[in-house]
Amino acid sequence: MGTTPSALRGRRALVVGLQFGDEGKGQLVDVLAGDHDVIVRFNGGANAGHSVRIGDERFALHLLPCGVLTEGTLNLLGNGVLVDPGVFLAEIDELRARGFDVSDRVRVSERAHLVLEHHRQEDRLRGAAQRALLGEAGFLGTTGRGIGPAVADKAHRDVAVRIADLGDRRRLRRKLEAVVRWKNAELATLARLAGEAFEPLDARARCDELEAQAVRLKPFVADTAALLRDAVAAGRRVLFEGAHSALLDLDHGTYPYVTSSSASGLAVEAACGVRVADLGVWGVVKAYGSRVGAGPFPTELDGPEGDALRVRGNEYGTTTRRPRRCGWLDLVLVRHAARTCGVDGICLTGLGVLAGLETLRVCTAYRLDGRRVDAPPADAVALEACEPIYEELQGFEEPVDGVRRYEDLPEAARRTVDLVERHAGPVCRVCVGPAREQMFERLS
Ligand code: IMP
Repeated sequence: MGTTPSALRGRRALVVGLQFGDEGKGQLVDVLAGDHDVIVRFNGGANAGHSVRIGDERFALHLLPCGVLTEGTLNLLGNGVLVDPGVFLAEIDELRARGFDVSDRVRVSERAHLVLEHHRQEDRLRGAAQRALLGEAGFLGTTGRGIGPAVADKAHRDVAVRIADLGDRRRLRRKLEAVVRWKNAELATLARLAGEAFEPLDARARCDELEAQAVRLKPFVADTAALLRDAVAAGRRVLFEGAHSALLDLDHGTYPYVTSSSASGLAVEAACGVRVADLGVWGVVKAYGSRVGAGPFPTELDGPEGDALRVRGNEYGTTTRRPRRCGWLDLVLVRHAARTCGVDGICLTGLGVLAGLETLRVCTAYRLDGRRVDAPPADAVALEACEPIYEELQGFEEPVDGVRRYEDLPEAARRTVDLVERHAGPVCRVCVGPAREQMFERLS
């Protein structure tokens, strides 16, 4: 018990969150990156927010893999990533300004789809129209980064724009002008439903902007699937960095309150052509719950207890700065996510935030319609109606941020680790804070 399973000591690994995002995946990827040659983002877009603390510096990355912060790694954005060119270039520029010139170490797939201004506008206007027409009940509360509309266009195909379209300037202009004409008609309808004035997008200005971005993007564009195949064939060590987390997965999450892409890690196969069965799968779990945006959250703590967790855990969105909803750890949801993703081992974060609480509560089952249930219902309304059944654990008084060895954790903190292990899988690493050195292996 406690030592890292052999599956996680292989040459290829996947990191995936097992809650609603913000479990601390960035920290684990940053630490593991030192043992890998290639880091791959394969899903989602700039709606993700991965934060990494190095020394006194904090880095918030939305599109680039956290591996860029490790010298010598090659970082790929695969086919399945939705690339907002403005965000991508701004992250490259910001890193350069902070001493990381990553131009030679980042490559983006020519097959990746672009997220453009009309997607961001559509995202926002759909939200406003949902509120106006359907009220709060129909409101999803997206990050506003244009991800849903970009995924919908990818499926529609007729108005989608991919990185591969950037190569031919004249063809790009013709295409984008047509797309903007189409989108202006759609956006005007949404604005009308939302009761807002609408200023149509200027097709020429949009084309000029994208053309300028295309020039800067060109050196980064590659056939990332081929790069990945070559890396695997050469026996290089590859780490897949999941974004958003399993409970936000379009197919396996708390639908419809999910993101619009596959966030369970299973997307690695479709997006990158690498078998998940060949990867060691790390699940990241935070010792309490948090969620941004709308959707069921059975263990949510309204009021002062939730507010206290938010402040102690600095639970404000990396992407939107929205205050996160906070609550107790829900092992029913974590167990479902761990099974979905087939995790080999767990990295448990956030223990330090619980220090000082007299009693800790962990949900291990629900009561629904008078019956005990051990798995989350598929229907979001039923999940909302679930009453958590808690196990109570004694809290621990002393701060644990300074702890560097598992055996130095207070007994009460270790009991939380045991409970997670019993329900979701072997806990192999523990984090007591956001810095690199605050993560340690569980060796006993
Ligand atoms: P969208 O992905 O912007 O469409 O947002 C859909 C839902 O997923 C919203 O509730 C977001 O707050 C949530 N969401 C999407 N990505 C993340 C993430 O990386 N962390 C936390 N919540 C996220």
